[in-house]
Amino acid sequence: MTERATDPADPTEHHRATDPGVVVVVAGAVYDRGRLLAARRSAPAELAGRWELPGGKLEPGESPEEALVRELREELGVEAEPGERIPGEWPLKPGYVLRVWTARLLSGVPRPLEDHDELRWLSRRELDSVDWLDQDRPAVAEAALRLPQA
Ligand code: C5P
Repeated sequence: MTERATDPADPTEHHRATDPGVVVVVAGAVYDRGRLLAARRSAPAELAGRWELPGGKLEPGESPEEALVRELREELGVEAEPGERIPGEWPLKPGYVLRVWTARLLSGVPRPLEDHDELRWLSRRELDSVDWLDQDRPAVAEAALRLPQA
């Protein structure tokens, strides 16, 4: 169970959504050579087979950028550098919101180490070729604007 306390002394409090009971999930629009990384979920059952921008929940005391770097390391085995936040915030299951940052691959070749069973690098014209999770679609559309036309 994720901690949902609203203690104002909690150092993660200011990173959370306006509603202090809301858990923030950070995901990365990871770019490399003009393509965007898509990850297919292997779990839980209701999300398996759908594609997402890789990421996960903020841990206590982490900034969103730190959480993103950690999640990309754990899930994909890569080092990445966070860039700008993609404007917007998207509801997930009740009590969770998704926020997305761009990220640039620094080193490593992404592998589906945790939570995913397939990865694909998509060019702008290939973005519709995978079945994105509904909640990720607006962020993917924004991320696409930052990809070269090809
Ligand atoms: O990966 P993790 O289980 O920590 O993600 C927390 C929640 O956020 C999950 O319910 C997951 O489906 C959701 N999520 C999402 N889109 C993403 C990343 C995570 O809907 N890009």
